[in-house]
Amino acid sequence: MQIAIIGAGNVGSALAKQWAKAGHTILLGLRDLNSTDAKELEKFSPNISSHTISEAINNSEVVLFSTPPEAAVTVAKQNPSLKNKIVIDATNSIFKKPEPYKTAFEGIKKETGCQEVVKCFNSTGFENMENPKYGNLVIDMFAASSSKKAKEVARTLSIDAGFAECYDFGGDDKVELLEQFALSWINLAILQKQGRNIAFKVLRK
Ligand SMILES: NC(=O)c1ccc[n+]([C@@H]2O[C@H](COP(=O)([O-])OP(=O)(O)OC[C@H]3O[C@@H](n4cnc5c(N)ncnc54)[C@H](OP(=O)(O)O)[C@@H]3O)[C@@H](O)[C@H]2O)c1
Repeated sequence: MQIAIIGAGNVGSALAKQWAKAGHTILLGLRDLNSTDAKELEKFSPNISSHTISEAINNSEVVLFSTPPEAAVTVAKQNPSLKNKIVIDATNSIFKKPEPYKTAFEGIKKETGCQEVVKCFNSTGFENMENPKYGNLVIDMFAASSSKKAKEVARTLSIDAGFAECYDFGGDDKVELLEQFALSWINLAILQKQGRNIAFKVLRK
């Protein structure tokens, strides 16, 4: 897939590396084309290249938002071509809402009219995205959206990033719950001081 990554920070860089290794073409959408993070990523894989934000979006089928939530809404307003893309929203609006919206997910949908938006890659730390393995165990990912197509793409890209499974967390009405799930990880890892090398996995018996 041709994937635009808007925001090449912790989350964007981790997923760029995993997806590039899996053979996807990654177009980093950047405010600063001389960004050091982007130069490092280009060195990491020939599948990764740097572009302006609009160029990256216009030339991709799938767009990942891994920016602060308010930045995702601003970029959405400026890029109407998002309407026809699969958009993956990895942002969390837990500590700051992208006013007047409750989440970037809601803002992206309302500003672009895109129906294929999915919340995914928001519920665990970026270190777990760069390496989802815990010894012999492989952790899970979760995705919420009312678009079946967007959830299928999120699942494929979760498996390609190395996750064991991407569980269907429900429709658009479960997006805020998935952000609260992210807050649960943040609570355990950071506020309760368990450390960032922890993860959630669904077990069955
Ligand atoms: N950190 C985690 O473990 C984690 C896990 C799950 C979800 N999340 C969520 O994922 C998002 C990104 O987190 P992060 O830790 O990866 O953040 P980060 O390392 O600070 O990276 C943020 C990226 O967004 C870009 N950006 C900021 N404002 C922008 C704007 N107005 N237009 C375009 N690009 C802009 C930055 O680019 P510049 O270099 O130009 O500033 C940077 O590349 C947040 O919403 C966070 O809640 C984080």
